[in-house]
This record gives sequence, C-alpha cells and structure tokens, in this order.
Amino acid sequence: MIPSEIAATIVDPKAFGGDGSRVAEAFTWLRRQMPLAVAQPQGFDPFWVVTRHADILEVERQNELFHNGDRATIVTPIDLDQKVRMVMGGSPHLVRALVQMDNPDHAAYRRLTYGAFLPQNLKKLEARIREIARGFIDHMASLGGRCDFATDVAFLYPLHVIMELLGVPGSDEPRMLKLTQELFGNADAELNRSGATPEDAAGALANLQGTVAEFMAYFNDITEDRRRHPKDDLSSVIANGSINGEPLGILEAMSYYIIVATAGHDTTSSTTAGALWALAENQAQFRKVKDDLSLIPGLVEESIRWVTPVKHFMRTATADADLAGTKIAKGDWVMLSYPSGNHDESVFADPFSFDVARTPNKHVSFGYGAHICLGQHLARMEMRILWEELLPRLESVELAGAPVNMDSAFVCGPKRVPISYKMR
Ligand code: HEM
Repeated sequence: MIPSEIAATIVDPKAFGGDGSRVAEAFTWLRRQMPLAVAQPQGFDPFWVVTRHADILEVERQNELFHNGDRATIVTPIDLDQKVRMVMGGSPHLVRALVQMDNPDHAAYRRLTYGAFLPQNLKKLEARIREIARGFIDHMASLGGRCDFATDVAFLYPLHVIMELLGVPGSDEPRMLKLTQELFGNADAELNRSGATPEDAAGALANLQGTVAEFMAYFNDITEDRRRHPKDDLSSVIANGSINGEPLGILEAMSYYIIVATAGHDTTSSTTAGALWALAENQAQFRKVKDDLSLIPGLVEESIRWVTPVKHFMRTATADADLAGTKIAKGDWVMLSYPSGNHDESVFADPFSFDVARTPNKHVSFGYGAHICLGQHLARMEMRILWEELLPRLESVELAGAPVNMDSAFVCGPKRVPISYKMR
C-alpha cells in the first residue's frame, strides 16, 4: 500500500498547482519505490497507481479489459461519487462523452467526427489558423513588451480556433472560456463557480452541475439551429449525426459538444503557456529553436511532454488481469498517471530537463490506443503555426514574475505566465 502522504499528494489539486514540484516528487518516489501499487487517500476508494510508461501503454492497449465507463473516469472522492450517482440514476458520470464510453458505443460515436480531425482534412484549415495566430501575435506586439502570456495569448488562440470549428460566434467565446475553466478548475477556488474548496462535496457537485447545465442549455439552442439550418461546422455534424441509424442521444450529443468545446482548447492553451514559461526559463533552448526554426516540431512535442496537461484518467478492470506480473482484480480502479509516464527515467534521458531536440520523444500526453486524443493533430498544428509566426518576431523574452499552475489533479496547466519581451 502506498504511504498515506504520497497517496494524499497525488489526489491533491494543490500539489499540481504552484510550480507543480510537490506532485512531481511524489511520482518520482513512486516510480522508484512502488511503480505499480494501491493508493487509498482518505475519503477515496482504493485504486492502483500506474506510474511506468510501459504499464500505461499496456493498460490503454487493452481497452476491453480496462474499461473507461464502468466507474468514474476521474479520481473522485466517495462522497462526491455517491452524490453524482444519486442525481444521475446510478451512473458515476455527469456527462457521457467519448471518454466515458466503451465499445460498441465508443467506436460508433468516435467515427462521427473522426474524419474532421484527420491530418489531411486539417490541412485545409492551415491558412485560416495561421491568420488567427497572426492576429494574436499582433495583439501581443501591441501590448508594449509586457503581458500575461497565459491570459493574453495562450488561452484565447486555441479557444478561437475550436469555436470557429464548432461554429460558435466569437462573442460567446468569453462565456465558453469561463465555463471550461469552471469545469477543469472545479477544485481551484479561484476558478470554480462559487469559490468552494475541494473538501466540500456538495459545493463541488453544485458547481459541476451548474456548469454542465449552462453548457447544455447553450448547445441545445445550437442543436435546434443547426437542425433547421445545417452549416459546414462541427456542431452541424453533431446535431444532424446518427449512430446506427438513430440520432445521437440527448445526453450524448450535449456531452460531445462539451468535450470538444473544453478539451479542444484548454489542453492546447496550457501547453502553449507552459512552453513559453519553459523557454523564458531556459534561454539556451529559446535561442536554439529561434536560431533553427526546423526545431519547432521538437519544441511542440517537448512542451506537450513537459506540461502534460491531462494529469490522469481512470480505468476499471472488467476481469482479473495481470499487469507486469501484478494481479489486478476484476472491478479494480486504475489510475493512469500521464505526467509520471512522461518522466519515466527508463524511457526519457534526463526527464526533468526541457530539451527541444529530444529524439525520440514518445510521450504519453495524448494517451494511447482506442481513446487516444481525437484532437492530437489539431493541437500539434495549432502550436506549430503559433511558434512559426511568433519565434521570428520574438527577439527576447524573460519572466516578469512567478508563473503559477492551476490547482487540479485532472486537467491543468499554467494560469499565469507574466513575461517581458521585445518583438519585431
Ligand atoms: C496538447 C493538447 C491535448 C492533450 C495533451 C490532450 C490529451 C488527451 C488525453 C490524454 C486524452 C485521453 C486519451 C486516452 O484515454 O488514451 C484525450 C482524449 C480526447 N481529446 Fe485530447 N488533448 C489535447 C487536445 C485536444 C484537442 C485540440 C481536441 C479537439 C477536439 C481534443 C479532443 C479530445 C477528445 C474528443 C478526446 C476523447 C477521445 C476518446 O475517448 O476516444 N483534445 N486528449
């Protein structure tokens, strides 16, 4: 059994906040001492913590043996889990998106939008995305050499891209950003709806329900509109799509919009903000990529590894299983720790250094297997374009204060990255 203070740390949103070092130390300890073991933090059901790169891939590869939807997909305290099941008629999920599904539904629902996210189709968007990126970089240049790169640039650019793909008008973007931050920042009193602390289960549930209800009301109107007036956007695909000849279920359709409208920008924003933080702190790396722009794809991969904005997903064993010689029993809950996998010393040389030339860079930030991130090519493309446009114009950059990460044990990245800079 994992020692209680380590178990408490890996579910503590605050341990991921600040500079994130507290949780990084806990996972380093686990990889060395107990790479696959059970944690039972106070108030939680016990769960396996998978910290090694190879074991994460092994679980993800076997998506029939390790299900997404049988128990909560995010590590959830018992009292919150019970409250969710009460309001959801026994289901542990407030929404039912791809991440909460298993086959046959998962494959059918994924097929609906899969094509839109393939590289050959994204290619058609390249010119428009570049135009959007340039707009934000001009905005950055107009700020007079000082800004909060997170809130002034990184949060807004991927938000604009995904909202354009969804067909959500620009005037609604601030609302979408706020709702996304409430959802992923539910454990961060500065970001959630009511200022509730993570210990307050009733407050946490009320906040989550409020955010989900507001999202649903919004996308319900969009659905009605796109059924009457289909457009060339993702919302029309979801509104008019069918699964085995039937329209999408209402919860499933709403959840589809929500996952695209949240995961579709927050993760990319976090990675972009974290990349600039890392470059400002590592001037040699900044100069290296600035002097050789062919390293930009390397910068993108390394920042995705470095930030690892999705901190975990849970799986549930559907039968007794053997994982690297350890017996996992049917029904056991399993945490896949992506940040830990991305710092596995047996896969990454010097994992705590930021290296834009790291090759190979087989990070697990996008997951693996049947559920591998649907938007991975879009995320990479957005970031590549941003750096291609920004780096030639950015002559110097330094931190102008201490950056800070959001408090969340699920999805998070920097919430403030104050910088001073010179631009052409
Ligand atoms: C750097 C950016 C991103 C990171 C690190 C990231 C990470 C992840 C991870 C770890 C998963 C779960 C994978 C698994 O269980 O194996 C996931 C799933 C998903 N992501 Fe991303 N994501 C990013 C960007 C995006 C974007 C731009 C979209 C756009 C729509 C997106 C949409 C999704 C969806 C729909 C799923 C569910 C896939 C499924 O369960 O089949 N993500 N992502």
